[in-house]
Amino acid sequence: MTTVRSGRVLVVGGYGAVGATVTSTLADWFPGRVVVGGRDEVRAQQLGGVRVDVTDPADFRRVLTGLGGVVAVVMCVEAPDAGIARICLERGVHLLDIGATRRLLDGLADLHDVAVGSGATAVLSVGVAPGLTNLLARRAHEAVGGAERIDLTVLLGAGERHGADAVRWTVEHLAEPTTAGPLRTMLPGYGTRTAYPFPFSDQHTLSRTLGVGQVTTRLCLDSRPLTTGLFALRRAARRSAVRRALTGLFTRIHVGRDGFGVRADAHRGDLHAAYALTGQAQSRVTGLVAAHVARELLTGSLPLGVHHIDQLPALASLPESLAEHGVVLHRLDGEPTR
Ligand SMILES: NC(=O)c1ccc[n+]([C@@H]2O[C@H](COP(=O)([O-])OP(=O)(O)OC[C@H]3O[C@@H](n4cnc5c(N)ncnc54)[C@H](OP(=O)(O)O)[C@@H]3O)[C@@H](O)[C@H]2O)c1
Repeated sequence: MTTVRSGRVLVVGGYGAVGATVTSTLADWFPGRVVVGGRDEVRAQQLGGVRVDVTDPADFRRVLTGLGGVVAVVMCVEAPDAGIARICLERGVHLLDIGATRRLLDGLADLHDVAVGSGATAVLSVGVAPGLTNLLARRAHEAVGGAERIDLTVLLGAGERHGADAVRWTVEHLAEPTTAGPLRTMLPGYGTRTAYPFPFSDQHTLSRTLGVGQVTTRLCLDSRPLTTGLFALRRAARRSAVRRALTGLFTRIHVGRDGFGVRADAHRGDLHAAYALTGQAQSRVTGLVAAHVARELLTGSLPLGVHHIDQLPALASLPESLAEHGVVLHRLDGEPTR
C-alpha cells in the first residue's frame, strides 16, 4: 500500500482545455505543489511552469530531473507511446493518464511490474470516456450479477470549445473500422438518440477488467444533424484532407450547447441495468475527474502497479463526488427484473 506523499505534481498539458481544470483544482487542494508543463515556454513560464515535450523522452527526463521532488505526473496530453510513463514509473513517480487510445493504454498496462518494483501507482482510463463510462459500466455490470453485454453511449456537446487535441483525436479515429452497428438510446435531458460505434478505449479495457465478452462504445453529438453529418463522412475521413477539414470545422464552429451525457447498459439474459451521468463541459469534468484521482494518489492508499479506474474500489463513488459540480447520476431502471 502507498503512503501519504509530499512533493510536486507535474501537470503535462496543464494549460489545455482539460489540463487547466486539473491545474487550478489541484493548486487549490495542494498550494505551491503544482507545476504546469507544455511545449509553449512563454505560456508555461507565465504559470510558473516548465517547457516540456512528451514526444521527446530525453527532454522529459531532463525536466523531471531538473525540477526535482516530483512525486506524481498527470498526463493531460497523449504521449506517442509508453516511453514517458516508463520514465516516471522506473523512478517511482506516480502517474495518471487521461488518454483514450487503446494502443497507448495497453502499452501502459504492460508497465505494471515496473510500477510495483519501484513503489509507484499509475491510474489509467481517467476522464469522461474513458473514465466515468468505466465506472458506470462496472455498476451496471454488478447490478445484473455479471453482464454478458455492455453498451456505452457518449453524447458530446457540439457547442463546447473542446481542446484542439481532443478534436484532433476524435476526427483521427472517425474512420477506424467498427463491427457493431448504431444504437438508439435515451439520454436524460436529450431524448432518444442514435449513437454510432466509436473506438474509445473503455470498451477494450472493460472486456478485460470486467470479463465481459461484448462491450461497445458509441458516440453522438447533442445536435442530431451534426451527428448524422459526422458519421456520414466516416468513409471519407480515411482521407487526411477530409480529416484536416473536419478538425478545422469542429475547432472553429460551435453549434449547440456544452452539455454532455454518458450511459452504460448492462445485459444478462432478461436482466438489464442502466446508469447515466449528465453535466456541462466534458473537458472541465474530465479535469475534475483527473484532479480527484490525483488527490487519491497523493493522499489515499491506492495499490501499487498500473490500474484502470474501474479496478480501484476507492474511486467507485467518484460519480457521487462530482454532484457538487453539477454532474447528475441517473439510475435509469429499477432493480433489474429477475
Ligand atoms: N479521458 C477522457 O475522457 C478525455 C476527455 C477529453 C480529452 N481527453 C484527451 O486529453 C488530451 C487533451 O485534450 P484537451 O481537450 O485538453 O486538448 P488541448 O486543449 O489541446 O490541450 C493539450 C495540452 O497539451 C499540451 N501539449 C500538446 N502536445 C504536447 C507535447 N508534445 N508535449 C507536452 N505538452 C503538449 C498543449 O500545449 P502546447 O501545445 O503548448 O504544448 C495543451 O496544453 C487529448 O489527448 C484528448 O484525447 C481525454
